[in-house]
Amino acid sequence: MNAKPKVWVARPVFPEVLDRLRQYFEVEAQAEERPRSPAELKAGLAGADAAIVGLADRIDAAVLDGNTRLKVVANLGVGHNNLDLDALTRAGVLASNTPDVLTESVADFAWALMLAAARRVGAAERWLRAGHWPGSNMRFDDWLGLDLHGRTLGILGMGRIGQGIARRASGFSMRVLYHNRTRLPEAVEQECRATLVGKPELLAQADFLVLVLPFTQANRHAIGAPELAAMKRSAVLVNVARGGIVDDAALAAALREGRLAAAGLDVFEGEPQVHPDLLALDNAVLSPHIASASEDTRRAMANLAADNVIAAFGFGDVAGQPPTPLNPVVMSHWAAGKA
Ligand code: DGY
Repeated sequence: MNAKPKVWVARPVFPEVLDRLRQYFEVEAQAEERPRSPAELKAGLAGADAAIVGLADRIDAAVLDGNTRLKVVANLGVGHNNLDLDALTRAGVLASNTPDVLTESVADFAWALMLAAARRVGAAERWLRAGHWPGSNMRFDDWLGLDLHGRTLGILGMGRIGQGIARRASGFSMRVLYHNRTRLPEAVEQECRATLVGKPELLAQADFLVLVLPFTQANRHAIGAPELAAMKRSAVLVNVARGGIVDDAALAAALREGRLAAAGLDVFEGEPQVHPDLLALDNAVLSPHIASASEDTRRAMANLAADNVIAAFGFGDVAGQPPTPLNPVVMSHWAAGKA
C-alpha cells in the first residue's frame, strides 16, 4: 500500500478537521500557537505534500526554495497577503483561501466595532470594572456617544464583506456610500442601497468609514494623515481589513487631538504589535484580529482549507476540484505534467 501524503498544519485547528484530514493523509499538526520563523516554515513545508497555514505565516520564494515535494498551501483566511502567489505558482504549488464562509461574521463584527466605538462601550466598561460607578455621581450628560441611525456609512472596498456591511445598514436607516475600483452591478447596488462615490467624497461625507479593502502595496496607508484630515471631526473609522492600510501613528494623533471622534480597529500595522499611542487612547476600541472568530465561522474556515487540500489530492466528494483555489493555473500545469 502506498504511504499517505503528508499535511503539515502550522496552527492548532479543530480536532474534527484534523480527523477529516487523517482519513486521507498523514497529519503533522502543530499543538502550539506561536509565530513560526521562516526557517521553521521552510523545514515544515520541506517534509510535506500539503500545508495549512495561518495569516502570520509568510510563504514566499525563500521559504519555498528547493522544495520539490509541496503541492498545496491552504490559507486559513480570505486575505492572502501572507502568500507570494507568484512564487507559489512558479514552484507549482496550488494556493487556496477561505472566501465566503466568513463574509457575514466579519460584517457582523464591523458593526460591533462601529457600535462599540460610537457608544464608547470599551471605555465605559473599563470605568465600571474599575469600580468608579458607585459614588461617582455620574451625570446625565456623562458618557455621551454618537448615534449611528440616520447617519452616513462610507465603505472603502466593496467586495463581499463590504456588501454584507452595507446590507445591514438599512436596519439603522443609514445612507450608504461606497468607493471601489469597479462599480457594482446595479442590482447589487440596489440590494445594498449603496451609491458609488469618489474617494474624496467618501472621506468628506462619511460619519462612519469602514475599511474592507485587501492589502496591497498600492493600498498601504490608503488612510494616512491627508485622508484623516479630509474626514469629519465627528467621524468614526473602522478597520476590519488589514493592518498597514491605515497609518496607525497618524490615526493615533488624529484621535488624540480630537480630529477624529473614535476608531474601532481589529487589525494593526505590524500586528500582533499594536502602536503604543493607540493602546493609550480611550476613543479607540481595539480587538486582536478576531472579526472572523465566531464558533461556526472559524470551523467553516478550517473545513474549507481542509476541503481544498483533500480535493487537490483527488480525494473526497469534489476530488480534483478544490473549491477556492487562488492560482488554479497550477492544476493545468499538473495535468500537463509540467510541475
Ligand atoms: C481573513 O480571513 O483575511 C481575516 O482577516 C481573518 O479574520
